[in-house]
Amino acid sequence: MRIILLGPPGAGKGTQAEVLVKKLSIPHISTGDMFRNAIKEGTELGKKAKGYMDSGQLVPDEVTVGIVQERISQNDCQGGFLLDGFPRTVSQAEALDGILAEMQTGLDAVISIEVPKEKLVTRLTGRRVCRKCGATYHMEFNPPGQDGACDKCSGELYQRSDDTEETVLNRLSVYENQTAPLIEYYSQKGLLKKIDGDKPIDQVLVKIGESLGRNWA
Ligand code: AP5
Ligand code: MG
Ligand code: ZN
Repeated sequence: MRIILLGPPGAGKGTQAEVLVKKLSIPHISTGDMFRNAIKEGTELGKKAKGYMDSGQLVPDEVTVGIVQERISQNDCQGGFLLDGFPRTVSQAEALDGILAEMQTGLDAVISIEVPKEKLVTRLTGRRVCRKCGATYHMEFNPPGQDGACDKCSGELYQRSDDTEETVLNRLSVYENQTAPLIEYYSQKGLLKKIDGDKPIDQVLVKIGESLGRNWA
């Protein structure tokens, strides 16, 4: 399956992706994670991305499209993949259409996770992420068993540098202006599955499964 997870910052794309890719046995491709890893490793890509990410702006399309094209042409993506956080502009979506057409394939579904805007700020400012395995928690809605430590690998939990209230508000307006038009773009192609993301994490997963014709209840 070739799937896109669409939704505003904090909608739960990463949280759902963690489980979805296991259930569907496909790789998880998060452009945000790829950029964060590049920054951590101090690569050229990381240097290009850092300023944009810190201020909540989008990394330029030509940079982003290039890394996704390279990633989805790798062998492990032949049986499908889950894109999380890409595409994020109409121009990225058009580029993806072109790449997939060249590969003589296409998308199966675009899952749009919808959450009221006023809830997104709380979700993001309370988020904590494992430094070692990337698992995502929330201080209130999905707390780890032990304070500051990952349930899965005991790694240290940290707060993303773009999860401050000021940057979050900026990211939300970037989403409204540049990414929300993709809902219409994919709706017109008949690919869009709308999911109510304002429900407990396990219920959202069941609904996503249903939209893909799977029973995970
Ligand atoms: P990216 O890392 O993709 O961030 P984002 O889109 O802003 O999305 P988030 O990761 O913040 O939210 P999420 O939907 O994954 O939510 P999560 O599951 O963690 O991108 C970061 C930056 O990289 C961008 O700003 C940009 O600069 C750059 N970038 C990336 N892709 C790009 C692209 N294609 N083009 C250009 N630039 C790009 O959940 C959030 C919190 O809520 C967690 O604490 C979680 O525990 C909690 N939660 C989840 N589900 C629920 C629920 N159902 N109920 C209650 N709490 C929940
Ligand atoms: Mg994410
Ligand atoms: Zn961990």
